[in-house]
Amino acid sequence: DWTSDIFIDATVSDLKEKIGDDKVVMGLSGGVDSSVAATLIDRAIGDNLTCVFVDNGLLRKNEYEEVLDSYKHMGLNVIGVDSKQRFYDALLGLSDPEEKRKAIGKTFIEVFDDEAHKIEGVKWLGQGTIYPDVIESVSVNGPSATIKSHHNVGGLPDFMKLKVVEPLNTLFKDGVREVGRALEIPENIIGRHPFPGPGLAIRILGDITPEKVATLQEVDHIFIKGLKDNGLYDDVWQAGAVLLPIQSVGVMGDERTYERVVALRAVTSVDGMTADWVHLPYEFLGNISNEIINKVKGVNRVVYDISSKPPATIEWE
Ligand code: XMP
Repeated sequence: DWTSDIFIDATVSDLKEKIGDDKVVMGLSGGVDSSVAATLIDRAIGDNLTCVFVDNGLLRKNEYEEVLDSYKHMGLNVIGVDSKQRFYDALLGLSDPEEKRKAIGKTFIEVFDDEAHKIEGVKWLGQGTIYPDVIESVSVNGPSATIKSHHNVGGLPDFMKLKVVEPLNTLFKDGVREVGRALEIPENIIGRHPFPGPGLAIRILGDITPEKVATLQEVDHIFIKGLKDNGLYDDVWQAGAVLLPIQSVGVMGDERTYERVVALRAVTSVDGMTADWVHLPYEFLGNISNEIINKVKGVNRVVYDISSKPPATIEWE
């Protein structure tokens, strides 16, 4: 009979035995899986675990500060690395989705490797891999994904030569959440929607600039806050906004405007493999649209994505 408490006790004592006095490094994404995995390892070995949380400049508004703060409150030995400029430089001039993904993955690996090198004698790499990732062999979410998709590139960075420890690799998402709650990880992390590793870069169609990121962060923030304030957030599996590479004509007072269009996306899903668009209330959508257009400079039109997966995907890139 599985209970999260039994799982936690067994896992922590296994980890203690396996890792002993060795040091572990692990990348955190702000998501559920890496946070729960890190907390279990922390229970077992404390500050011999060093967590690395990277600001790639593609996170949600205030997310870096808020999540880093949560991690510190949870007692994790976490290093925050502000690498925004490094990622923006790597993305400069790129508009092809796969090229953007590759540039982000490569930069993440470089940043992470730099940090791992600062930990003397580190022997293990912690990962938040969960059971479905093991079956699929390529995980779609979190830093682990970025690492895996680059496995075959050759010339492995040093941290990838470390032994791997994956305390969640027998669990499904629901089990991970249950364990996370039993570990008293804050609800803002446990209940968090999935968020892609490349972040807002794959929700800004075309090339990435810090200005576009700032615009999309504002739009996304209004949408996500609206979902939370209206009790809709937990009914949605994933939501976000997309900055489209087109402008449309509008009118503001007596003035003609020619500004950007954003698309809102909200889906229900079990595992991200298939998804349905959420029938959000018209009134909610109307209010959110008004708020976005009134508050976010440079946006004069909002559309709602009513495509399901398949044949559409959840992300637009
Ligand atoms: P799609 O767009 O393929 O998304 O329907 C399915 C799930 O995967 C996430 N996703 C990604 N996650 N790196 C990630 O870590 C990526 O490159 C990536 N692309 C999509 C997406 O947010 C959704 O949860």
